[in-house]
Amino acid sequence: LSSAKRSKSAERAIGVFDSGVGGLTVVRALRKLLPQEEIVYLGDLARLPYGDKSAETVRRYALDCFHFLERQDVKMVVIACNTATAWAIDLLQAHSELPIVGVVQPAVDATLKAAPSKVGVIATRGTINSGVFQQKLHPLPLQAIPCPLFVSLIEEGLTDHQATELMIRHYLGSLDQVDTLLLGCTHYPLLAPTISRLMGPSIRLIDPATSCAETVAAELQKTDLLANGTGQVDLHFTDRPPHLERLVEAFLGEQVSFKLATL
Ligand code: DGL
Repeated sequence: LSSAKRSKSAERAIGVFDSGVGGLTVVRALRKLLPQEEIVYLGDLARLPYGDKSAETVRRYALDCFHFLERQDVKMVVIACNTATAWAIDLLQAHSELPIVGVVQPAVDATLKAAPSKVGVIATRGTINSGVFQQKLHPLPLQAIPCPLFVSLIEEGLTDHQATELMIRHYLGSLDQVDTLLLGCTHYPLLAPTISRLMGPSIRLIDPATSCAETVAAELQKTDLLANGTGQVDLHFTDRPPHLERLVEAFLGEQVSFKLATL
């Protein structure tokens, strides 16, 4: 590529998708690490949650989201959803030449780097049932726990509520001798302070958003695709529930306007 063409391709946006607003934790981490990158985000709120759907359905939805981002001429696609990564990253990679980064491998790498003696993995039912973390972390001693109610509690803004504390105790009460807890869902970083408070400071939490953003930065650097732009963020959602403004602010840490997307 000539340098003019290369920079043109580097100035394209990073495409990010999730089933809803959870992936905004990844966008937040990306903006912190790569403030000059333009980001196009798609949240498939009309079809949330992905966490309880079958593999076939999640693959079909993920492909729709991917096609939407392809039409925005992005330079890379980030699957900011563990469930979609677990079931669909192979399909998307086989389907396209675009670089694709998911949230599973970066969190696995960050976990292995921490050299834990025993790992807890919490995620949606779909992600746990896919077995992806169990395979990738093998032969580390591991306890994998589906936490299907966490997403609803977080979306309701109840991160500090006693109902959530009760559910954390319910789901995580059986963790035994775990020193590292992998948050295997992009919603869960919002629960991190409450989990830490209840589980004690000796448990190290692996945040899927920061580890994913670091992988994206390394990948862009390696392929000479780092942008030098204004860091604009374009948010698209397939539905617009009445409390969406509040959710965007909670997950992204800032208020950004959004558009309705048709897939
Ligand atoms: N953000 C999704 C994930 O990381 C969970 C939300 C959902 O179930 O759609 O798995």
